[in-house]
Amino acid sequence: MATPTQLPYYLRPMRMEDVDQADEIEHEAFPTLYPPTNYRKELRNRIAEYIACVQRDAEVWVQKGTKRSWTDLFRRRRPEPPEPAREELIVGFLGVWYMGGEAHIVTIAVRESHRRKGIGELLMIGATEMALLREQQVLTLEVRVSNVNAQHLYRKYGFKDVGVRRRYYQDNDEDALIMSTDKLTGADHQALFARLKEQYTERHGIAERVYL
Ligand SMILES: CC(C)(COP(=O)(O)OP(=O)(O)OC[C@H]1O[C@@H](n2cnc3c(N)ncnc32)[C@H](O)[C@@H]1OP(=O)(O)O)[C@@H](O)C(=O)NCCC(=O)NCCS
Repeated sequence: MATPTQLPYYLRPMRMEDVDQADEIEHEAFPTLYPPTNYRKELRNRIAEYIACVQRDAEVWVQKGTKRSWTDLFRRRRPEPPEPAREELIVGFLGVWYMGGEAHIVTIAVRESHRRKGIGELLMIGATEMALLREQQVLTLEVRVSNVNAQHLYRKYGFKDVGVRRRYYQDNDEDALIMSTDKLTGADHQALFARLKEQYTERHGIAERVYL
């Protein structure tokens, strides 16, 4: 059997300097979401954990938001636009909230230009590993009933339909499907997850994953 190659993507905890790119990816993935998520606040949320998928050997110039200093306000002068900063390229990210033994996936999104390359799946592997590390019982989430692509990904990773929240999404009154895995440490789920990770490495390559 051929030795698996190293994937050009890896997972690491999301950082404050990733927030501008997270905003951009969220806007592309969920254009009707209002208000947008405050990721600066989320990164300080004690029950939340976010991971970013980074493309190796790729960088972007990010224009940071213009901030007014106290002296700008005092002198009523226009603040200088900040210099664009060179950052690692974030191609997707995922967030979970830990609540009463459940790791609830609050967001998952991949840049449109990078979809169907296994990044969504890598983020799901990350979510499962983080939940196991934090000794959570199950993974749960809500998904639009029309979002069949995401549902495919979740079913592949052992999620089952457990209920419906009627008219959960305010932009179009769409229902949310509530999905949950079996117990993460149960023998069936462990066997499924081990098989999925093996298949992932064979198909896409070895992906480095760093957690706090
Ligand atoms: C859902 C999403 C995260 C998937 O990311 P991705 O990187 O494209 O997914 P992957 O390439 O890792 O695909 C993994 C699995 O997802 C499913 N999937 C993803 N895109 C699919 C599509 N267009 N059609 C059918 N299945 C799809 C498949 O089961 C696939 O496994 P397979 O390759 O063995 O068929 C991405 O489409 C996205 O960001 N969508 C917009 C945001 C969103 O809807 N988030 C979910 C909110 S609940």
